[in-house]
Amino acid sequence: MNETMRLLLDHRSIRKYTDEIIPPEMIETILKAAQMAPTSSNYQSYSILEVKDPEKRKILRDISGDQEWVEKAPLVLLFMADLSRGRDYFEAIDTEILGNTESFTVAVVDAALAMEKALIAAQSLGLGGVIVGGIRNDVARVAALFDMPSLVFPMALLCLGYPAEDPGTKPRLPLSEVLHVDRYDVRDRQRYIEAYNEEMEAYYFERTQGAKRRTWTRHSGKSLMAKDRDAVGYFLRRHGFLKK
Ligand SMILES: Cc1cc2nc3c(=O)[nH]c(=O)nc-3n(C[C@H](O)[C@H](O)[C@H](O)COP(=O)(O)O)c2cc1C
Repeated sequence: MNETMRLLLDHRSIRKYTDEIIPPEMIETILKAAQMAPTSSNYQSYSILEVKDPEKRKILRDISGDQEWVEKAPLVLLFMADLSRGRDYFEAIDTEILGNTESFTVAVVDAALAMEKALIAAQSLGLGGVIVGGIRNDVARVAALFDMPSLVFPMALLCLGYPAEDPGTKPRLPLSEVLHVDRYDVRDRQRYIEAYNEEMEAYYFERTQGAKRRTWTRHSGKSLMAKDRDAVGYFLRRHGFLKK
């Protein structure tokens, strides 16, 4: 065990923050760490937007399904998959390539790695935070709100601040269910999932002081069904992504 491992294993999403402001130098350090995330072929096909404007914060909160941390977090960063820079400046490219599924995948992976790196950097400096994908409830409105050009996809927010809650760590699936060796093996899947359902039921029961008993399969299934977000696909195709 070392300090970094303890930090990584201690992860929990934080949605309530004190009023303490985050010093600008700390924000810069977090952003520089995010920029040091690995990036496919050094394309760096993402951008980050700090949302300071209270009116825009309110609109994002509304779009996200009234998630109050979007308005109240001391720092809100919007991570975008961004192929517009490459379209405008990469030399000798046929811009058609930016419309293929591979280019989209590269940009989303780049943006996600940078976002997670920012979160870990923030946690190492005593902050807590949560990723908010809820902005994809109306991705076209988000893009218009910030004047995004085509080939820019507002992927998710990262809300950060000094923690004012401690929800504890959330159990994960048994490692054996997630890890495969040499071949994809599902022989024990049912057993692993049943065990995890029991663990999650007990976890939610304790976290809600007995108010909720919900299994992982039921909770995650319902959650997935509640947000089809088909409009994300229409948006992407209208904005130059996923043409082929
Ligand atoms: C892509 C992504 C989108 C997420 N969107 C939301 C969100 O809209 N609202 C929210 O409260 N949490 C959101 N989360 C946080 C997850 O709910 C959380 O990470 C998960 O339940 C595991 O809990 P933990 O982070 O506390 O371990 C999101 C996480 C990811 C990775």
